[in-house]
Amino acid sequence: MNVLLVGSGGREHALAWRLAQSPLLDRLYAAPGNPGIAEHAECVAIAATDQAALLAFCREHDVRFVVVGPEQPLVEGLSDRLREAGIAVFGPSAAAAQLEGSKGFTKDLCQRANIPTAGYVRVTSLEAARNALGTFGLPVVIKADGLAAGKGVTIASSPEEAEAALVALFDGPGAEAVIEEFLTGEEASLFVLTDGTSYLPFGSAQDHKRVGDGDVGPNTGGMGAYSPARVLTPELEQLAIDTIVRLTIEKMAEEGMPYSGVLYAGLMLTPLGPKLIEYNARFGDPECQVLMMRLESDLLEIMLATAEGRLAGHKVRFSDDPALTVVVAAR
Ligand code: AMP
Ligand code: GLY
Repeated sequence: MNVLLVGSGGREHALAWRLAQSPLLDRLYAAPGNPGIAEHAECVAIAATDQAALLAFCREHDVRFVVVGPEQPLVEGLSDRLREAGIAVFGPSAAAAQLEGSKGFTKDLCQRANIPTAGYVRVTSLEAARNALGTFGLPVVIKADGLAAGKGVTIASSPEEAEAALVALFDGPGAEAVIEEFLTGEEASLFVLTDGTSYLPFGSAQDHKRVGDGDVGPNTGGMGAYSPARVLTPELEQLAIDTIVRLTIEKMAEEGMPYSGVLYAGLMLTPLGPKLIEYNARFGDPECQVLMMRLESDLLEIMLATAEGRLAGHKVRFSDDPALTVVVAAR
């Protein structure tokens, strides 16, 4: 089978490395890929967001399966476009990817499904946002509603900081924000594969977000990660699946937006149990790198089963050895 991997990050390099080891694979293409990915796949100069060119490439090169790495093309509906053309896809529809694409959508879903998460208010104007601040003490969490590459969150510990964050956020037209209660505890990321009905836990990780050595500076999308997250004990993982992930999968299906792909739950392990911080509609970067180091099963087979709704009964093996990665970044 010919497979196209969409994306150009360290995450996609890790996926390419694993996909290339599958006995089910004939040719692996990557769009646009990167020099690391080029060691495992044929890179083609098509942007991850160029839906028409990706579809044409699949048709010309007999690609039957597409793995979408990053969130942007998912939120823009690449999976829908490919599925309409009869191509199997690992990655959720645009409707299901709202779990990452809109923080307000996810918070409202949590409320409808009774999923534990931080208390919140959705706001669409600076005035409403200022008023909402009174609902919560300090620190208070301020989030832009849409995709922000890990940089859309401010944790304000003073009224001045909150005001500055809100003014910046509502600088342009059409801005939306979520103001949230501040949760305390240890954070962990839980990955779950789902075909919309069945699901399979797919490992845990913790990432290191601050830009500087010594845990200083602003948040990034992630400067390093390790797996497994030992704080997420088997009992806590089961609790998170039962009270958060399973309810989400069921609710999304019930509301006509079945979620297919990997669901990445960012969890806060609070004294009252796990609470959802956020969902991502794809693997984490750099969490994917450490998951792939530990994965012992055939990645292509399990991704295909996910895409084709055949996940029930599948098992997956991970090494008990921990894995760790550090991002080396240009200034
Ligand atoms: P996010 O972009 O939603 O992953 O948020 C980035 C980071 O902000 C998270 O990894 C948490 O460390 C922190 N954060 C987000 N929401 C909350 C919250 N309600 N309480 C405490 N910390 C939060
Ligand atoms: N490392 C965090 C993320 O991929 O969202």
